[in-house]
Amino acid sequence: MNSLLLRSALVVSSVLFCLPVLAQTRSSARVAHATSARPSLNDPNSERKIEAFLQKMTLEEKVGQLVQYSAGQPTGPGTGRTDYDNMIRKGEVGALFNITTAREVNAFQRIAVEQSRLHIPLLFGLDVIHGFRTEFPIPLGLASSWDPQLVERAARVAAHEASASGIRWTFSPVVDIARDARWGRMAESSGEDPYLGSVMARAYVHGYQGTRLDAADNIAACAKHFVGYGAAEGGRDYNSVELSERTLRQVYLPPFQAAVDAGAATLMSAFNSLNGIPASANPFTLKQILRKEWGFQGIVDSDWTSVAELVAHGIANDGAAAARKAFLGGVDMDMASSLYHDHLAQLVRSGEVPEARVDEAVRRVLRVKFALGLFEHPYTDESKEAAAMLQAESLALARTAAEQSFVLLKNAAWPDGAPILPLSTETRTIALIGPLADDQKNMLGSWAARGRAEDVVTLRAALTQKLGVDRLRYANGTEIIGGSDDQIAEAVRAAEQADVVILALGENAPGMTGEAASRAHLGLPGRQQQLLERIVATGKPVVLLLFSGRPLTLPWAFEHVPAVVATWFPGVQAGPALVRTLFGEVNPGGKLVVSWPRAVGQEPLYYNALNTGRPAGNIDLTRPPKNGDEKYVSRYIDMPNSPQFPFGYGLSYSNYQYGQPRLSKDQLSAGALNDELRAGGGASNAAVEASADVTNTGTRAGEETIQLYVRLQGTSVALPVRVLSGFQRVTLAPGETKKVTFTVAPDAFAFWNDQNKFAVEPARVTIWVSPDSSSGSGATLQITK
Ligand code: BGC
Repeated sequence: MNSLLLRSALVVSSVLFCLPVLAQTRSSARVAHATSARPSLNDPNSERKIEAFLQKMTLEEKVGQLVQYSAGQPTGPGTGRTDYDNMIRKGEVGALFNITTAREVNAFQRIAVEQSRLHIPLLFGLDVIHGFRTEFPIPLGLASSWDPQLVERAARVAAHEASASGIRWTFSPVVDIARDARWGRMAESSGEDPYLGSVMARAYVHGYQGTRLDAADNIAACAKHFVGYGAAEGGRDYNSVELSERTLRQVYLPPFQAAVDAGAATLMSAFNSLNGIPASANPFTLKQILRKEWGFQGIVDSDWTSVAELVAHGIANDGAAAARKAFLGGVDMDMASSLYHDHLAQLVRSGEVPEARVDEAVRRVLRVKFALGLFEHPYTDESKEAAAMLQAESLALARTAAEQSFVLLKNAAWPDGAPILPLSTETRTIALIGPLADDQKNMLGSWAARGRAEDVVTLRAALTQKLGVDRLRYANGTEIIGGSDDQIAEAVRAAEQADVVILALGENAPGMTGEAASRAHLGLPGRQQQLLERIVATGKPVVLLLFSGRPLTLPWAFEHVPAVVATWFPGVQAGPALVRTLFGEVNPGGKLVVSWPRAVGQEPLYYNALNTGRPAGNIDLTRPPKNGDEKYVSRYIDMPNSPQFPFGYGLSYSNYQYGQPRLSKDQLSAGALNDELRAGGGASNAAVEASADVTNTGTRAGEETIQLYVRLQGTSVALPVRVLSGFQRVTLAPGETKKVTFTVAPDAFAFWNDQNKFAVEPARVTIWVSPDSSSGSGATLQITK
């Protein structure tokens, strides 16, 4: 389904459910609030200057603009080069990255601007993935807020801090679709859904870039990794990818197109091969789709040595061939492999690469440098750097972001009849146990840019502040990996002395999540499962906080632990956000952006799957198969098909009741919808309105993310059982009912059909307005010819 564009606008009208209708308020969808103006790369003044530069540049100087090196802490295998000063002086370098302070940036910039022949400034990049110094939750956590405005604001803070250090280019957002929890980089993504991923892609780009790239605290975004990287076979990082064009266009490309439409100045080509053709030398995706179909004007940067890796992929037998294939395949800039530097000029001289193509790539690089205002303001004011970091409002936002990212997975009633969470402030003694309870470094998550462990307030610190040291029994219980019997015994003693136990378990952020961190086992590492079972055996009420960059397969925990919260890696304000959530100052409202598996064998696992010809239908898939079940259906014999928790799922301290969805029409015409798509109104016009009443039946105010799903049947190609096509995070007072209305746009009904076109076809349509991807009852309508 074509989720490239904004599909639904939302109208909320609110009434208190015990009263007659009092008022109707109308507001547009959250997704529509994002900044709509986008920075332009086409300034006629700059174009003239760029042409003048091209006249003056030697071939080597042109190639220099297409060369990028890491001059700081490496984030990939080394290239062996260190003579950057000299190369910059000779005009042989266009961009540097992995430098993190204004002083270092200025030092390199001075060489480029004051000592090179043409004085062209360098562009400085960095992986600012979820914050620069003020670290926010990892992107998987940020997306779990289902709040694009929050994400946009977090990206703004990151841009403000990064630019104060002279970094004007971030290698973010990661807009890869992640359907497989084995893949460590799921942590960096916005999850498995193309619609949500597109909304988040736009939010990041707007947050980083604002409306003008030359504003001193705006930075250029880089949508990555183009494309299919998250579909690595077996979830093993860098592995090969096979995707049909339909899946590519319906699932993997939409967030990239959303980023491009939002004005992303740059894009990064991926490491993986896609249907046999490495993504960093793939003219179909880089030229046909990106340039021709989408009109992308910015820079395509390679990933770290992905140009050189064409040799390992087997499509080039030497560095020169790799440089030629990557460059002609559509990669403008070579990150870290040095092969453009070594071979591109010679390839032009031998006629294998047209110089016009080099000129075009140089234009793209210079356009971004002009757009950022680097020619006028190449230096960064070092005296202002420190003050830009960790500002009070930035920390407040980091706390809010963490609070909104938590997903309450389970909250069972304890024998006194009440759910275990929120905890009462009257609780006499709390045992805080686990290797992540007082761990500053891991709270930062992977890709923590300039984040420092000492900036993190841990759960232990925040809890001590809340309760005082006397009411807290702390024991780390075990290490994330490793640990001893004595540690476990000490933790059991602490639990026995307490009224409630908070267990902080999970993964090690830099080692087990992020790049090159795929896992074949998704349980708790080390002795943590053993610790968990020993603590639960004390009979004390246990709240389990799971710190991870992905869902973990913990069926035992979900059966035996009364309360479980997915906390991801929450960033610098981890402790305060957790304490406020645990004690009910904040009502959790995060929802899963990935399907949570029961077992690794279910992966890849995603809700928007096809039905198959032999769906398991009415069989109760929550229990193992029994005699009498139909055998020849698509299921496991030893495991339900269903996830532990579905995409879109998340509990709250309130309860929400959903009414039956109602549609404003029971018929639509495919012809009329296609006309609107052709005329360009496919993303904004209303095709039909879907509404439902949602009531907060609990006793606390809360925020509920209400989701709109669509299914099409009777079409020329098989389509998913549900596709997310809209959502809204709505605040509901206790007892309040809101009528939530989604204005569904024509493109919600379009898909890549059997003629290889995005179009609407006659179909039976089911529409759900539901709390997650697997519940609720649908309303139907018909699309006629
Ligand atoms: C990663 C990219 C990152 C680059 C530069 C690569 O290894 O795949 O996501 O932007 O390094 O650090």
